[in-house]
Amino acid sequence: MEIIIQPTPEAGSIIAAQIIAKFVRTKPDCVLGLATGSTPLATYRELARMHREEGLDFSKVTTFNLDEYVGLPPEHSQSYHAFMDEHFFRHVNVPRAHIHIPDGMACDVPAECARYEAAIIAAGGIDLQLLGIGTDGHIGFNEPSSSLASRTRIKTLTQRTRADNARFFGGDLAQVPFHCITMGVGTIMASREVLMLAFGKNKATAVAAAAEGPITAMNPASALQMHPVVKCIVDEPAAEKLTRREYYRWVYQNKPIWQQISG
Ligand code: PGA
Repeated sequence: MEIIIQPTPEAGSIIAAQIIAKFVRTKPDCVLGLATGSTPLATYRELARMHREEGLDFSKVTTFNLDEYVGLPPEHSQSYHAFMDEHFFRHVNVPRAHIHIPDGMACDVPAECARYEAAIIAAGGIDLQLLGIGTDGHIGFNEPSSSLASRTRIKTLTQRTRADNARFFGGDLAQVPFHCITMGVGTIMASREVLMLAFGKNKATAVAAAAEGPITAMNPASALQMHPVVKCIVDEPAAEKLTRREYYRWVYQNKPIWQQISG
């Protein structure tokens, strides 16, 4: 796992956007895995700016989102359909037919999960998966104890995740759904590259466990240690508990020119 430590979330988000933009320019018909939550917001803003001001073209890109709440219709303001539209899709030119988000209103949830997995395979698999990380180490909504081989399925959110996300529901915990459909850890592991972002002090324990702890279902992000191409961008507070943080800085400062990110 390559750990990139940046002074601020803004600086980290610019680098994340540069990585995604470079990917889209190199492979215009790439398949991107996308994430919700507060973490990727500045990355989406920067990608939208690149689209507007630099002509970054998403017209051939296909996207698959990690997850959706069960029981929230797409028009609900806190559904991930609405989130993605507000923060990304309405600002760029990904064709509507290329956008995939699990259907949280599906009558037959297992059938919807199987359909989603099949759609990822039919699209050729995910080239680059963008991820946040939960304070408990979840990726997507794969909570601790999730199978590290899991595929898209229904999950029950932990009370901690519901509490973490209550801020999006006006602070009213009762409004936060109990269930979601999420790509599995195995689905995420099947993507060709992973870009994980973590900002803020409340992510420091989860980040250190994911990058430096044992591989364990108790921190689903730790499965990424077994993935061949993972970049993890963190700000200083989120890097606080990494024991090897000086080495990660050294690596980033001394990257060979051909490995550098911008350009
Ligand atoms: P956050 O959530 O970006 O809102 O902190 C991250 C996650 O739960 O994956």
